[in-house]
This record gives sequence, C-alpha cells and structure tokens, in this order.
Amino acid sequence: MSTKQISQQSENRNIFQKMGLPSQPVILAPLAGVSDHPFRRVCTELKADLTYVEMISATALNYESKKTYEMLKRHESEEILGVQVTGRNADDTASAVAILNKLPFETIDINMGCPVKKVVKTGCGSAILKDPARVYETVKKCKEATDKPLSVKIRLGWDRQMITAKEVADAAEKGGADWLVVHGRTRADDYSVPVDLEGIAALKQQLNIPVIGNGNLFCESDVKYMKSMTSVDGVMISRGALGNPWIFESLKFPEQQLSLDDWLQTVMKHLDYQMAEYGATGSGHVCMRKHLLWYAKGWPGVKSLKDKINTSIDLNAARQHIAMFAEEMLNKGHLVRTPLNFLQEGRFQWDPKWDMDRKLDRGVGTDGLEAH
Ligand SMILES: Cc1cc2nc3c(=O)[nH]c(=O)nc-3n(C[C@H](O)[C@H](O)[C@H](O)COP(=O)(O)O)c2cc1C
Repeated sequence: MSTKQISQQSENRNIFQKMGLPSQPVILAPLAGVSDHPFRRVCTELKADLTYVEMISATALNYESKKTYEMLKRHESEEILGVQVTGRNADDTASAVAILNKLPFETIDINMGCPVKKVVKTGCGSAILKDPARVYETVKKCKEATDKPLSVKIRLGWDRQMITAKEVADAAEKGGADWLVVHGRTRADDYSVPVDLEGIAALKQQLNIPVIGNGNLFCESDVKYMKSMTSVDGVMISRGALGNPWIFESLKFPEQQLSLDDWLQTVMKHLDYQMAEYGATGSGHVCMRKHLLWYAKGWPGVKSLKDKINTSIDLNAARQHIAMFAEEMLNKGHLVRTPLNFLQEGRFQWDPKWDMDRKLDRGVGTDGLEAH
C-alpha cells in the first residue's frame, strides 16, 4: 500500500471519531416496522452507539408523503441518529438525500440491500446490486447533495451466480461513500443461509473506507467471531436486538447476566415510551405486542404469557400481564434470563409470525414504494 493510501485510510477511519462515536461502533440497524424512536431510545440507553430510522422511500420523501415524515420523527432525547433511504434511480435518491440533509440527522445511509420483492421491482433496494455503474452514479450524486457522512448498505450480490460485492463496493468507495455496511448474504439467500464471512473479509481487505459487518450477530461471541474472521471496523445488529436490546450492553460487559429486575424495568420503560408516543391502542398496541412477544423469549413457561399478550385489548392490559408474569418468575425463583445464544445452541428458529420481510411484501413500511 502506498503512503498516500495509508494516510487516506487513516483519514477515513477517523470518520467515526469525528462523529463522536467509538472507533469500533456497535450500531442498531434500520429495521422496518421496528426501529421507531421508542425502540431506538431503549437501545441507546443500553449502549447502542448509533441507531437508524427504518428505511424510507426516496420517491415518497420527494412527494412529501405525510406518512414518511412521521416515520422520520426523532425524539428530543436522541443525541445522534441516522436515516436510511432507497431510491429507484440516482436522481431520485439524490434529491431525497438533499431533503434529508436539511433534517436533523447526523448521517445518511443508502439502502442497496433490501430484498423485498415489492421494493426490488421498483428498482430500489438490492436491485441496484446488479448495476455497479448505477451504484457509482447514485453515491456520487448523493454525496454532492449532502455534507453529512454518507454510507451504503449492501448485500454480497443478487444471488450466488451474481456476486457483485467487489464491483459494488469499489463503485461506492469511488462515488464517495464514507463507509460501507455489508450483510454477508445475497439477495436470494434467506436467513437459513450462513453469513459469508470470507465475502465480508474480502471487502474489508479491498476498501480504504471502514467496513461494518452485519448478519447473524446474536451475542458477544458472534460479534467476536465476525471481527476475528473479517477485521471489520464495527458491527451492525439487526435481529439480534429484537427482544434483546441488552445485546448492546452485553457486548461491552459480556460477563453480565440479564436479571429479572433489569428485564422488567426495560420492558416497562419501552411500554412507557410506546404509550407516550402512540397511546395504548391501535397501531402502537399492535407494534408493541410484537416487541413483547420477542421480550418473552428466554423465560421458562412463556406460552401463557404469549397468549395473554396476543389477546390483550390494549397496552395497559399487556403491561399488567407482564407485571404478573415477572411476579410469577420471582416466586418461582427464575431471577436471570437464559442467554439468547441462538446460533451456538443451534436453536435459532425464525418464527414466521415475526417475519417482517414478508409483512413488508404486504406493504407495511413501504410507504410510497408500492406506487412506483
Ligand atoms: C424486521 C426486519 C426489518 C428490517 N428492515 C431493514 C431496513 O429497514 N433497512 C435495512 O437496511 N435492513 C433491514 N433489515 C435487514 C437487517 O438490517 C439485516 O441486514 C439482516 O436482517 C441481516 O442481519 P441479521 O442476520 O443480524 O438479522 C430488516 C430485517 C428485519 C428482520
């Protein structure tokens, strides 16, 4: 590597420090239907370094969709926040980035990895992985449209026959991306396909900008393993935070166990944040029910709690069920939650009920995407 390249590399590495982040940040992914501010606040309080608003559509933003602006809501307590956008072409994406540039976000990510059919059909998300020239044009125009740090989130390719990560990453870097987030799967892979750590490592080797690793990170040892195999500059947590926002804290304090008390306090706090924002009924209730079912994981005998949550009439009722369940656990002497070490214990099962990708296909969270 030339001296110029080395100094360029250390300049790029500083991007996280310039943003006031640790040099190896642990990031909560943008999660459609999940990463609203009540959940983001819970994760931040449990030591997530950076969080994101869920993916929004450039087209919807350019058309000033009210629903999209609602999705962009930031809580006053959030000190740092990222936003992610996907667009059907370079110009659309760049004009959305110009709008986002004027809004209170510290960083902007361009989604080039979303596999959802409805999204891809419009040329958004992972559709762009087929066309590195478009990646270059998009990143370049977006970079010109913002003075904020700009990242790109990709998968390794469209499918196993069309692995384009190398070309896409090169185009993103040349276009001016400040860092790259890589989910080590292709668009065609489902979650049963292991994350390709060699694929992530190759990008880390290739690029001068920082690379953030993503995929199958459920506990401290998953993160350690990914880092040791790839040398990535940080990690992005996705499903690993669902029902387990403590994952962020556990990466910093791996020896700590999750006590019943801490569990209860956080779940109640999330309920408070949720109810303050959305009220106890309607969409706030539906969305929180999903979180509560995730929170129930790791405790013995949760079937009846899950049934109660599912049939609760509002969040006040759900809150009572949680409180009673915690009391029952206390009485039975279950004071610590079983670690959710899914992959290592070979018991990670993705309940189809939780499969937001499928829900996305039915239109949830794709405000504006379906129309174009
Ligand atoms: C419920 C859900 C919503 C998601 N929404 C987004 C999104 O808005 N933007 C994005 O880049 N990725 C999204 N993803 C993909 C994840 O960020 C991540 O790339 C993928 O799940 C792989 O990481 P994991 O194996 O750790 O879950 C979503 C995933 C899930 C499960």
